[in-house]
Amino acid sequence: MNIINILKDRFEVALKTIVPEASSYLNLIRPSMDPKFGDYQANFAMPIGKALGQPPREIAQKIVHNLHWDDILEQPEIAGPGFINLKFRNDWLEKQLVLACADDRLGVVKTDSPKTIIIDFSSPNAAKPMHVGHIRSTVIGNALYQILRFCGHNVLSDNHLGDWGTQFGMIFYGYRHFLDSDAFEKEPVVELGRLYRLVRQIMDYHAAKKELGSLLNQLEIAQKQLEQFKKSLDSIRQTAEAEKSKESLKKANKEFQRLQENVAALNSKIEETTQKIEQVENNADLFQQAQKHSDISQAVLLETSKLHHGDAANRQLWKEFLPRCMKEINAVYHRLGISFDLTLGESFYHDRLSNLVDQLKKEGVAKESEGAVCIFADGYDVPMLIQKKDGAFLYATTDLATIEYRQQNYCPDEILYVVDFRQFLHFDLLFAVAKQISLTSAKLVHVKFGTILGNDNRPFKTRSGDTVGLESLLDEAERRAFDIVSANDDAKKDGATISTSERREIARKIGIGALIYSDLAQNRESDYVFSYDKMLAMNGNTATYMQYAYARVRSIFSRGNIEIEELRKRCCSSKTTDSEIQSQNEESSEKTSSQETNVARKTTSLIKLIEPTERALGLELLKFGDALEAVIQDYRPNQLTTYLFELANRYSSFFEKCPVLKAGDDSTKNSRLLLCDLTARTIQKGLLLLGIQTVEKM
Ligand code: ARG
Repeated sequence: MNIINILKDRFEVALKTIVPEASSYLNLIRPSMDPKFGDYQANFAMPIGKALGQPPREIAQKIVHNLHWDDILEQPEIAGPGFINLKFRNDWLEKQLVLACADDRLGVVKTDSPKTIIIDFSSPNAAKPMHVGHIRSTVIGNALYQILRFCGHNVLSDNHLGDWGTQFGMIFYGYRHFLDSDAFEKEPVVELGRLYRLVRQIMDYHAAKKELGSLLNQLEIAQKQLEQFKKSLDSIRQTAEAEKSKESLKKANKEFQRLQENVAALNSKIEETTQKIEQVENNADLFQQAQKHSDISQAVLLETSKLHHGDAANRQLWKEFLPRCMKEINAVYHRLGISFDLTLGESFYHDRLSNLVDQLKKEGVAKESEGAVCIFADGYDVPMLIQKKDGAFLYATTDLATIEYRQQNYCPDEILYVVDFRQFLHFDLLFAVAKQISLTSAKLVHVKFGTILGNDNRPFKTRSGDTVGLESLLDEAERRAFDIVSANDDAKKDGATISTSERREIARKIGIGALIYSDLAQNRESDYVFSYDKMLAMNGNTATYMQYAYARVRSIFSRGNIEIEELRKRCCSSKTTDSEIQSQNEESSEKTSSQETNVARKTTSLIKLIEPTERALGLELLKFGDALEAVIQDYRPNQLTTYLFELANRYSSFFEKCPVLKAGDDSTKNSRLLLCDLTARTIQKGLLLLGIQTVEKM
């Protein structure tokens, strides 16, 4: 059951006779901010009135007149200029709640128009250790995968591993020049990681040395421009004031700001570049190596190209290294509880690239330009390079081949790429080209996300300036969660109750859950500051708070010795009797008014919404489907975290006002127990869809 869709369906019918394109207005049905305006508000009378040139209140009256409402709603109210306030009938809500209790899917119906959707996510570059940057793609992708699937879509997850790129050239080079054989014997992946970082550092050093001069020149020019503009700014301001032209003042200020930002950006780039140089030059050994390997970047490209062209030695090394790297990566997935339907990395497409390029050339889509092969997309200044002068293929070439393969094998309706927003230029161009050359009919979406920052508001790094490894991040989250669980348990009035091994298991779920949730709760496009303290806080919109809320609700059943499954079963049988009554009514020739049936239902309902907080909780529980739909609409898992947080808060208010185990009579107690149970199940399911497990105690 998706409440908002029920309303939309009803209103669509009502609007059809009044306006063309009725469906375009339906998004104006929204939950009310204030319960005094009902549960939902329909705000389309104003735009419709405007479009038709009629008073909106009259439009609102017409709409309500056409609306079939009386079985689910109280009499709709028209307020102010034409808002339609909607409040659900309690008996209808109660019935929906009983149905949800009786349903494994908690009342959420599957979509009636399932799509085939491929989600390309995680996709780390295999030769380097997974780092903090990989967490976002992995957890956002997985949450979207789980949610889309639960809603009834055919979803395939594909881990498009970077298992064929320059990073392999880098470790081959490192292996041949800097290997510590003992270390490699003991922990090969750790050693490969070290080699990768060392080669990266020396390559970056040489690149930085080359770039610094030009950056300093650019800064000088940018500073001069800024100074000059600053001088003329006063007179521009005066003229603008005299001419009363806000527009030109605004323009001048904007330009001033742009020039300032330009200088700031160059300064920070120079700082970064200088750091790369100093890190090497301040270390005598490293400096010596850097000097010895001055042509390292060329050599790395050569190693990579040898791999691509079938050089036996490099292919052999690749075959040896890849499974080892994968073992490490899979260990992370295992800890996060994530698996993939497909793992078709870049290497899978390698054999297809030259054919694809040839074919595109033959079709006249791709053109040779200065020895390289390019595709020019309409409306784009830069072409897409698909083969370099030296014959090498590029990231974009593989992505084109991937789209072609996906189209041929799965004919998807949508392909989602859950990738760092910094790759937006690549995806913009890729999508434009793919559409232009009719490679796929699928909707292509770059599900972008921002950067994880450290306390200094810069990309999160270790103290030594390295990117933070994902494994160490998971370890630390679990360690801190263990301390929290232990402290809570030790502080119990009647003494600790949780064994060390149990504490460890709980800490695992809480630590990993905290990491996942804190990421998903962000607006995915924003950068956010990483903080263990915040993510593990017992209060606020955190996994820990949600897991605690779940455990707290569940503890009611053990405290009260309640067989909640029994009670749930009663909902199932009441569901069947209810539908029996309904079909009997439908069959019988004498019409029962809906009013009467509702009275009959009222007396038998297992759930009663009496207190305002009780009703608010019930309504919130029924919005689970709406929340999932909101996630899907714009691929935003934070719509679900926001919902779960709201639900937990409604539950707290309910629990404060409404005694459960000590309720006045049995039927109230049972009704409230069922609300508690549905709350726990909704939180549990919601967290699970986000990739987070619950615990029974903490
Ligand atoms: N391996 C890439 C990286 O780490 C991400 C790949 C994303 N997927 C794709 N089809 N391009 O940056």
